[in-house]
Amino acid sequence: MPDFYIGLMSGTSVDGVDGVLADFSLAAPRVIAHASAPMTAELRTALLQLNIPGPDELHRAALAGNALMRIYAAVVMDLLARSGVPGSAVRAIGAHGQTVRHRPGEFDTTGYTLQLCQPALLAELTGIDVAADFRSRDVAAGGQGAPLAPFFHQGLFGRPGENVGVLNIGGISNLTLLRADGSMLGFDCGPGNCLMDAWCSRHTGKPYDAQGAWAATGTVLASLLEAMLSEPYFAKPPPKSTGRDLFSPSWLEQHLQAFAAAAADDVQATLAELTARACSADVLRHEPGLRRLIVCGGGVFNAHLMSRMRNLLSGVQVSSSADWGLPPLQVEATAFAWLARKAVLREKLELQSITGARGARVLGCIYPA
Ligand SMILES: Nc1ncnc2c1ncn2[C@@H]1O[C@H](COP(=O)(O)OP(=O)(O)OP(=O)(O)O)[C@@H](O)[C@H]1O
Ligand SMILES: [Mg+2]
Repeated sequence: MPDFYIGLMSGTSVDGVDGVLADFSLAAPRVIAHASAPMTAELRTALLQLNIPGPDELHRAALAGNALMRIYAAVVMDLLARSGVPGSAVRAIGAHGQTVRHRPGEFDTTGYTLQLCQPALLAELTGIDVAADFRSRDVAAGGQGAPLAPFFHQGLFGRPGENVGVLNIGGISNLTLLRADGSMLGFDCGPGNCLMDAWCSRHTGKPYDAQGAWAATGTVLASLLEAMLSEPYFAKPPPKSTGRDLFSPSWLEQHLQAFAAAAADDVQATLAELTARACSADVLRHEPGLRRLIVCGGGVFNAHLMSRMRNLLSGVQVSSSADWGLPPLQVEATAFAWLARKAVLREKLELQSITGARGARVLGCIYPA
């Protein structure tokens, strides 16, 4: 009997929605279909604006959530059409929503993390149960609410008796270290593609630096790089998570004030180097003897970035998750299908070592179709 779930992910790059329909009835999850849809320009602008405080936020957030659910529903229909699986055979959809604020542990010490999502509308549009709001229970239990993918990475990429690293380079980058003894560590390293995307779109009008070709023409500005790497977040010990709240275009602006005359391609090269340096330093700090690093997320397609990672991590085999059975843009979406299944089965996740939450908890909330 197949055990079908759908996972929908729209990450911090705000580039679009990735969805998978996966079968969890076997030992390893099997992706039956993958579909994606770009964010409309209007919705992308609205979501980016909602990352910073502004007037009439509640109204704008509610409508942006509705618009996002219409894209989510279209991806669901696409997945059903591609797979031939009827909606009635899908046990639930795991819908991540769009993070617009991530401030765990701050203010009143609980803080919050906010993913815009209207699960009721998605249930209405698809006729399928929806599991959503995976992060806030973890925050309520004193955790970072992120990253959650490590729990899924463990089952998929973990090898008994071997240390394996999994690096997801989305808008933000996060590292999972799966240890030979079965323990694990996972946290956000810092920027993934988000700063490179912002600089590229401002200077070239293109949403991202395809293959990192533009960055490859520039020269790294050593003093700018060192200034950016002095951001205290990088030195903080885990558990830790971050987002556009910190690594925002205004963070970049502040650092660039002293480099007003810098050539745009040199800045792009420096931003690529920042991501490569931050991620590789985390690998070396936490697992110096690591031999295998599996990379997923859209950053895998940035050939320049991957080449810098390989250079900084000599002795580590750095490969795409595609070589390990799951293409880079399907890993996070499959993680949310898996999280939906955990929510449906009321299975707790051992959150402590990753998010710092007080104990094991069931994550997510279910909206019946
Ligand atoms: N061909 C390419 N060359 C360079 N960069 C690419 C290419 N294709 C995608 N990318 C980068 O990958 C990003 C999208 O990656 P992805 O969808 O994994 O990020 P995300 O939506 O933030 O996900 P998450 O937050 O779940 O990690 C794009 O914004 C872009 O920066
Ligand atoms: Mg994406």
